[in-house]
Amino acid sequence: MSARIIDGKSFAATLRDRVGTEVSRLKDSYGVTPGLAVVLVGEDPASQVYVRNKGKQTLEAGMHSVEHRLAAETTEADLLGLIDSLNADPAIHGILVQLPLPGHLNSDLVINAIDPAKDVDGFHISNVGLLGTGQKAMVPCTPLGCILMLRDLHGDLSGMEAVVVGRSNIVGKPMANLLLGESCTVTIAHSRTRDLAETCRRADILVAAVGRPEMIPGDWVKPGATVIDVGINRIAAPEKGQNDDGSAKTRLVGDVDFASASAVAGAITPVPGGVGPMTIACLLANTVTAACRIHG
Ligand code: GUN
Repeated sequence: MSARIIDGKSFAATLRDRVGTEVSRLKDSYGVTPGLAVVLVGEDPASQVYVRNKGKQTLEAGMHSVEHRLAAETTEADLLGLIDSLNADPAIHGILVQLPLPGHLNSDLVINAIDPAKDVDGFHISNVGLLGTGQKAMVPCTPLGCILMLRDLHGDLSGMEAVVVGRSNIVGKPMANLLLGESCTVTIAHSRTRDLAETCRRADILVAAVGRPEMIPGDWVKPGATVIDVGINRIAAPEKGQNDDGSAKTRLVGDVDFASASAVAGAITPVPGGVGPMTIACLLANTVTAACRIHG
């Protein structure tokens, strides 16, 4: 058996189209252009790439995009001052502070300074609480992208066994809450789970969000299961040769061993091209949702 490959790029393109339509409606009916502000502190190369992509796609969706790039030494007081001014800015409907922040900054304090109505990451404690109690919340983008793909694939998820491997605040925990909201039977597994292989084998829906390259092999996957691989790991790829400076070329892999898992699963997201493209599309969708709640 060979799994259906879930095309995240195509899902994301469809969602971006829908966002574009909603942006036009807000402009035409209310004279409002949804605006997203992204704040980056420091020069982490991966974060710089993410922030650039977010800005580019925000503009392509017809929205207003603002980037604030701050020095790594920025003080907490200065960062909180910027967040206050963005909270008060009527042209800004969504605020995202790129994580991780440099070590001297308290991420919880910074995230909780964002107006929850503009918290398009869904990381503010109010949104976490709303999601955890099944109320209308701003939902973190990566889990939201996963649940949209799962709903499209299966329709009704109720009664399915879902195993989420990873307990992060950004993916694992909100993903589990969303699956619970879909009436799945949900297990959160992690590095201390006693028999991780056996736990994974129970899953009709297996979500891998641990950040460890190719950790989950095919024989941990139940035949016919749907596998959602959230991992994006860069590993050395000696088979691709060397760069000009003599360093090894690299390639991206997920948390799941795609070759063996795709021989067993019913459907699987590839890396790259699976969950990744949905994350930014959901950020745009959350920004439009925030603008609609204020204006439309
Ligand atoms: N760093 C890695 N993923 C994310 C995310 O989804 N949002 C923010 N703000 N920072 C991140």
